[in-house]
Amino acid sequence: MKSLNSILDLGVDELDGLIATAKDIIAHPEAYRESCKYKKLATLFYEPSTRTRLSFEAAMLELGGSVLGFASANSSSASKGESMADTAKIISCYADIMAIRHPMDGAPFVASRNASVPVINAGDGMHNHPTQTLADLLTISREMGRLHDLTIGLCGDLKFGRTVHSLIGAMSRYPGVEFVLISPPELRVPAYITQKLADDGIPFREVETMEEVMPELDVLYMTRVQKERFFNEADYIRLKDTYILDPDKLKTAKPDMAILHPLPRVNEISTKVDADPRAMYFEQVRNGRFVRMALISTLLEGLYED
Ligand code: CP
Repeated sequence: MKSLNSILDLGVDELDGLIATAKDIIAHPEAYRESCKYKKLATLFYEPSTRTRLSFEAAMLELGGSVLGFASANSSSASKGESMADTAKIISCYADIMAIRHPMDGAPFVASRNASVPVINAGDGMHNHPTQTLADLLTISREMGRLHDLTIGLCGDLKFGRTVHSLIGAMSRYPGVEFVLISPPELRVPAYITQKLADDGIPFREVETMEEVMPELDVLYMTRVQKERFFNEADYIRLKDTYILDPDKLKTAKPDMAILHPLPRVNEISTKVDADPRAMYFEQVRNGRFVRMALISTLLEGLYED
């Protein structure tokens, strides 16, 4: 039994295997309709979500399985003081696999140490969001035709944005990848991530405007400023509209650059960009369902053992 806490739990072969399975699901959905028949997925969401929870549930239903769970901490016994460890033991009695979103870094890891079924991290604090990264990788692979030799711009809240941390961890293992980290000084990528990039000899630059690097980028990954993780509302208001991607700013971008965003969007991409053929963020949502189908079926088949 293997759990997925961090994208680094998966080797490059395993990442490539999941992407290949997701592409096969897209091409042959009928072959997977009973893959998880009689199996149950529990979704334990202690933090708000639209895409991740519903795409996990849609994925399991499309695999022929069933779903149960809760969408907020208030509707679970966490509100009475039950620990993550005990909750994981309890849910293991009801479900064959569970997906957990939690505001505390490491909570799904604690669950995985106490559960007797696989646990999937569906986003923990400002740490990691591995299944969003799988959706990102599938989107980049489908749109660019490769995961290597790419210049990737990550723009916005690179400090609190867990999807950014996971994506850097995954993409830094593919050859020829270069990162351009676009943020205000206050929202830079945490030092432990840039230090790892430096130690591993992976090229990266930190800049403050998207205009200065736009012509170089193969992928532009926009993120929202994470209001819920700010200690001070005045700082959030000062920083929230630092970057707004609009058609004018895209004039210098490559004609085949892919624009990604994990969503939800607030202001950082003008809705006028949605009609641009380079806008891939809604396709990215669709890909999330397929890659979660690939992940659930693979974990339940026990193909990846610890
Ligand atoms: N991308 C993402 O995690 O969206 P939700 O918060 O809606 O799940």
